[in-house]
Amino acid sequence: MKKRIAVLASGRGSNFQAVLDAIRAGTVPAACVALITDNPEAYAIERAEKAQVPVLIIDYTSFPDRAGYEQALLAAMQECSAELFVLAGYMRILGSGIVRAFPDRIMNIHPALLPSFPGLHAQRQAVLHGVKVAGCTVHFVDECLDGGPIILQACVPVMEDDDEDTLADRILEREHECYPEAIRLFCEDRLVIEGRRVRIC
Ligand code: GRF
Repeated sequence: MKKRIAVLASGRGSNFQAVLDAIRAGTVPAACVALITDNPEAYAIERAEKAQVPVLIIDYTSFPDRAGYEQALLAAMQECSAELFVLAGYMRILGSGIVRAFPDRIMNIHPALLPSFPGLHAQRQAVLHGVKVAGCTVHFVDECLDGGPIILQACVPVMEDDDEDTLADRILEREHECYPEAIRLFCEDRLVIEGRRVRIC
C-alpha cells in the first residue's frame, strides 16, 4: 500500500527530485501528493510541475505576521492528508503548533552529522571547525531545531583543500541516497521510535 507524502521545499529542490525519482523507479512505495513552498520563485516548483505534483504556494511575505503564515501552512498541510511530510531544503523553522499537529510524521535532512553543526551553514561550520569527517542526517522533526530522533546518517571525508562548496557537493550526493532510503523505510512501516532512538525493523 502506497503512503501519501508531501514535500516542503524553499529552493532548488534537488532532494525533492531524488525522492520523485525514487518514487518513479518504484523503490519508494509512496505517492507524492503535494509540494508546499514558501517561495514562489523556488526551482522546486518546476520539478513538481514536470512530475505532475500539485503545488501549494504559501508565500511568507503575503502574511502580516508569522502567526498568520503558520496558520495557513497548517491548513495546507492538513488539507493534503499526507501520512508523511518531507522537509527538503525548507528554510523556515516550523512552529511548535505544526510540529505538535504531526508527531513523528515530519522528516528533515540536515547536511551535517548531528548533533554537530545544527542550524544554518552546516558545511561551513564543519570546514571551519576542521573536522575530518562530515555527512548528512535524516531525522524526525521535534520542537528542538535539528534535534529530533535520528533515522539515518551517512558520512564523507573532508579533504584538505575543501571549502564550503566542495564539501556541500560531496555531502549532497549522499543526501540524495539517504533521503529516499529513509522515506522508503517509513513507507514500509519499518521505523520504530523508542525515545531518542529510531530502530529499523
Ligand atoms: C540540503 O543541503 C539539505 O540538507 C538542507 O538544504 C539543502 C537543500 O538542497 N536542508 P536542495 O534544495 O534539496 O537541493
